[in-house]
Amino acid sequence: MTTPFYITTPIYYVNAKPHLGHTYTTIAADVARRFYMLLEQDTFFLTGTDEHGDKIVKAAEGKNQDPSSYANQISQLFRDLWPKYNISYDRFIRTTDPDHIAVVEKILQQIYDSGDIYFSEYEGLYCYGCERFYNRRELVEGKCPDHGTEPELIKESNYFFRMSRYQDWLIQHLTDHPEMIQPERYRNEVLSFLREPLEDLCISRPKTRLTWGITLPFDPDYVTYVWFDALINYISALGYPEGEDFKKFWPQARHIVAKDILKPHGIYWPIMLKAAGIDAYKHLYVHGYWNVDESKMSKSLGNVIDPYYLQETYGTDAIRFFLMRDMTFGLDANFSEETLIQRINSDLANDLGNLFSRVLGMFHKYFKGVVPEVDAVMQAKVGPELSVPAQTAINAYQSEMEVFHFHKATVAVWEYISCMNKFVDTAAPWELAKRPDEKQRLEAVIYNLLEGLRVIAGLLYPMMPDTARTMLSHLGFDMETNEYLPIGAIKQWPALASGAKLPKAISLFPRIEVKK
Ligand code: MSP
Repeated sequence: MTTPFYITTPIYYVNAKPHLGHTYTTIAADVARRFYMLLEQDTFFLTGTDEHGDKIVKAAEGKNQDPSSYANQISQLFRDLWPKYNISYDRFIRTTDPDHIAVVEKILQQIYDSGDIYFSEYEGLYCYGCERFYNRRELVEGKCPDHGTEPELIKESNYFFRMSRYQDWLIQHLTDHPEMIQPERYRNEVLSFLREPLEDLCISRPKTRLTWGITLPFDPDYVTYVWFDALINYISALGYPEGEDFKKFWPQARHIVAKDILKPHGIYWPIMLKAAGIDAYKHLYVHGYWNVDESKMSKSLGNVIDPYYLQETYGTDAIRFFLMRDMTFGLDANFSEETLIQRINSDLANDLGNLFSRVLGMFHKYFKGVVPEVDAVMQAKVGPELSVPAQTAINAYQSEMEVFHFHKATVAVWEYISCMNKFVDTAAPWELAKRPDEKQRLEAVIYNLLEGLRVIAGLLYPMMPDTARTMLSHLGFDMETNEYLPIGAIKQWPALASGAKLPKAISLFPRIEVKK
């Protein structure tokens, strides 16, 4: 049996509609999931919305709505957007789902019973935007590093989660599992945070201040702090504790998040799991921000890029590709429509699109669309020129995808595309076609170019599922019954059956003319 694969995105707040930042993370998760499908692993992909807390109440009030109907409406926007980007998840969880609420209550009660939750009075600096208390050294010039606003001093009695008790355990766990938080810079950030004493976490809000949340099972006057509620989605969605999906997928859990929520995922969450007697997740993959003009794209800064507009203007696969290609996973990237257009024109229209139409065009011209039978001696001569670099590309792609280096995996495919383009130029099939004594070479050249396109299409599936499927169906694969080519079939060379009749090429990516 193959290892199961479980991938999650953050569950997004429903205080504003989805933007490109959310779209990036969710596409990255979808790409990872589809890659593991190629490896024929059993996969589970979770995304959803985070619906409780102050933030949502404030946003709903701003629109003169009650939090529940406001949450319904915004959550629906996320569910409407994902299919447009070909994102196919197994569950869309909402923190207002009854099964989620039941698991949150169960875990709270359990941790309370075991003595890791206590009641105490607290005075602290609270950022409403982040919905959490800050200590002074975390602030930048007295302001919240994320919102640039001054936190308010709040004094109240609350319930606290004894995180401090688990600090040494977490340090040891991160030391024993150096791969847990990736890329390494974020692991180091968590470890450096853990060098200071860990404060206990305030996990309640009095109902006098907030009612939109999950009531504490042991005190009806309080609701649960939104992060304590939200993080649990990763296990409630799988039917914790008895669900088959939980048993199967949880040991393989991988979370993708951006660096804004490193602390809850790198510190609170493993400690919550430990306190509840649940194994830690396997990996946390942390990416940087999409910036616009060097500042973070965010709803509070009002500089968000609309994913609906991008999809309608440039198409699903072009955007999926661009986002994976232009962000080095872990670092920030700058978004501009100009760079997007350049990327589409150079990599998609030129390198990939031209290669596809050129090869299929020559194939139809010289062989009337019927895959030629290749002489074995000629195959042994010509084949390796494209099959050897194909193996190199597949290996590089596979090892980069396994560690979520989507950009590097993409580069590996484009290096191969460039090798194919060079091969067309040097093999010059149009010259061979003029010489009857070169018929066998021409057959081998075109046949192996078709094979190369098959490998490219196979590898592109996780990033560009529609494009990959179009390419594969033009190479004679039955994409009505198959969703993709498994990695084993991609690696096989030669694979195309001679004598097969293939349809004429279509333009994969038209060039985008820039209006002057
Ligand atoms: N609700 C919490 C997460 C709870 S998970 C148990 C939350 N929601 S959020 O709506 O603010 O989403 C934050 C996430 O959205 C980031 O971690 C990232 O995945 C994505 N992004 C939001 N803005 C982004 C950028 N500008 N760039 C890249 N990703 C961004 O935090």
